[in-house]
Amino acid sequence: MKKKQIYIFANWKMYLDYDESNIFANRFSNVVKEISKEINVVVFPEALSLYTVGQVLGDVGVGVGAQNVYWLDKGGYTGEISAKMYKDAGCKYSLVGHSERRHIFNETNQEVRKKLEAILSKKMIPVLCVGETAKERKTGKADKIIEIQLRSALSGLTLNAKKEIIIAYEPVWAIGTGQACDADEAERMHALIAKIVKKMAIKANFKILYGGSVDSGNVSAYLIKKTINGVLVGGASAKFESWYKILKTAEKLNKK
Ligand code: PGA
Repeated sequence: MKKKQIYIFANWKMYLDYDESNIFANRFSNVVKEISKEINVVVFPEALSLYTVGQVLGDVGVGVGAQNVYWLDKGGYTGEISAKMYKDAGCKYSLVGHSERRHIFNETNQEVRKKLEAILSKKMIPVLCVGETAKERKTGKADKIIEIQLRSALSGLTLNAKKEIIIAYEPVWAIGTGQACDADEAERMHALIAKIVKKMAIKANFKILYGGSVDSGNVSAYLIKKTINGVLVGGASAKFESWYKILKTAEKLNKK
């Protein structure tokens, strides 16, 4: 099924170090011409290799993004990197509110909001990650949690219809566990997200991706769904062979 644009995003987390990231980027740059322009590929490397990875991949039409930002531009904030600094280093995108940030580093909905605003103010495209825990799902709270996360991050923003905002539905229980969310259920959650965002009446161009144990074997199940604009891939994006297979699968679907 041909869609307008397919988003295939790679969250490398802290899986690849400086050398590994650069070797991967060089290898990838040699095969990227096999992938059509309708497939929007963005890589999120760790902060230290981001600049050189961006130089290699920028030349072949692949974007780079930050995994996390701090909301203030400059100052005495030891260890932090601001949205402005990432922008200056060549980032067009940034993840925000990834579940590992929320759950391992105790990031709150309020902090996610501040980061999202900082990303927008630097004219970068945010990839807002939302998702429920296993317990929240079991107790029937998944839909409500998603609504709370979306509302706290987005309500009241004044943007314009052209401004791109990407939302990644990433159920916490599916991330890095090998237990991907069933594609029909992911589709239902995507429709829910679209409905909530519509109710908020924010003028923006929203895209919704699925993330959580996506691999070369299951990626097409998500990409063929109408409400799913693409995928955010973690573990499988940091291994060249599986990443390449994911892109080839997307390419095949794009050609159909
Ligand atoms: P995973 O991670 O593909 O390894 O489950 C996805 C993500 O965290 O974005």
